[in-house]
Amino acid sequence: MFLVVAAFVFTSANAQKFDQLAKTPPMGWNSWNKFGCNVSETLIMQMADEMVSNGMKDAGYDYIVIDDCWQIDRDENGEIVPDKERFPHGMKYVADYVHSLGLKFGIYSSAGAVTCQRRPGGFGHEYQDARTYARYGVDYLKYDWCGSTTQNAQSSYTNMRNALFTAGRPIVFSICEWGSSKPWEWAGEVGHLWRTTGDISDNWNSMIDIFNKQRELARYAGPGGWNDPDMLEVGNGGMTNEEYKTHFSLWCMLASPLMAGNDLQKMTPENREILLNKELIAIDQDSLGRQATCYRDNGDYQIWVKTLSNNEKAICLLNSSDEKKSVLVDFALLAQIRSFGRRFGGFPPAGGPGGAPGAPGAAVPGGAQGGAGRPASAGLPAAQGAQGVSARTPGAGGMPAGGPGGQPRMAPLTLDNFRVRDLWEHKDLTLKETSMYVDMPPHSVKVYRFIRK
Ligand code: GLA
Repeated sequence: MFLVVAAFVFTSANAQKFDQLAKTPPMGWNSWNKFGCNVSETLIMQMADEMVSNGMKDAGYDYIVIDDCWQIDRDENGEIVPDKERFPHGMKYVADYVHSLGLKFGIYSSAGAVTCQRRPGGFGHEYQDARTYARYGVDYLKYDWCGSTTQNAQSSYTNMRNALFTAGRPIVFSICEWGSSKPWEWAGEVGHLWRTTGDISDNWNSMIDIFNKQRELARYAGPGGWNDPDMLEVGNGGMTNEEYKTHFSLWCMLASPLMAGNDLQKMTPENREILLNKELIAIDQDSLGRQATCYRDNGDYQIWVKTLSNNEKAICLLNSSDEKKSVLVDFALLAQIRSFGRRFGGFPPAGGPGGAPGAPGAAVPGGAQGGAGRPASAGLPAAQGAQGVSARTPGAGGMPAGGPGGQPRMAPLTLDNFRVRDLWEHKDLTLKETSMYVDMPPHSVKVYRFIRK
């Protein structure tokens, strides 16, 4: 008995999160946005089948996650009891089926005494539930914050992390605390993704409002730990196709988890074109794991930059206004941008490799901010921008070292270094001049990848 207790104390004292998981943002499907409590083993198995046959699995989606309402009670031993009408064969059966398709299986609970739908939560049963999930064959746990009262979020989630670690099965831990206790400041040690806001709804205002709240969080995201602006609504019917393209593009720019939330059996060709846009998915899944930062903000017209591996980058132009816009885009200027999102406050000292001075969530310097009153243009402040960028951007991404004082100096990037690809048109731009006018419908984006020649 003593040995068992000692082993347990020792293991949980040394508990950590499983650190080889979620090296890129998790991708998959979750039941909540479309089906709410209307889940069953038939539905989950159908969605898993569909994810294989419609190409999503090949595109990288691999988690099938059952959200709230699979559980209904606890038995006399405190063991969680699945809803037998909806899951007559139990959860391991569903997990085994999902695994047999080469997919991974996720489940949901809450850190409080009850879930958001008032099903039994995990409070007081953390180690027991973690063992149960391991036995089911769970690969991903979404852990909500409903039913919590005076609990401390960081210690509650750390407790569950320790329980999962002790149970021994590697499980992606998805913290769903809605951003209330600024989980980005502590969750990097605890989970693999953490919700940053309340729930998304299937409309433009909800989506863009959540997007706007991600702006200062870029430095907390990176391989193994991601800001989670909530699951996708693509295909659920409340936004236009243009808006869904914007939603998906912005989520990819943010290196967000990509959890589809629609009925996979009722996908239109337009939904497919979005969720299966492999060039956009590659932006999301880039191995460097940087979240985009805002390079320029004119209010309803913005430019966002996501640094990619191999000194490449994605640039997203966003027209969030209700008006059509024609914007002058200076691709020569965009070619020069470097950005500096780093995770967990782990910025190198100012001026060091990859270090932008004063960098939290840093937009790249370059004098391109504050263009209010000017025509919407990425081109006008080019001279300032160019100067600012090259003068203040030592060292990102492994370029040759050797600047003054031993600090690495970057070779300036120019348009000659890149071809520029439009990731919705799926073609390279043929630029007659380095600037051109780009027409942008209301609520739309353009996403370009600057690909090294
Ligand atoms: C909360 C979460 C949602 C969903 C529901 C389920 O609202 O934030 O994502 O899991 O609970 O009840």
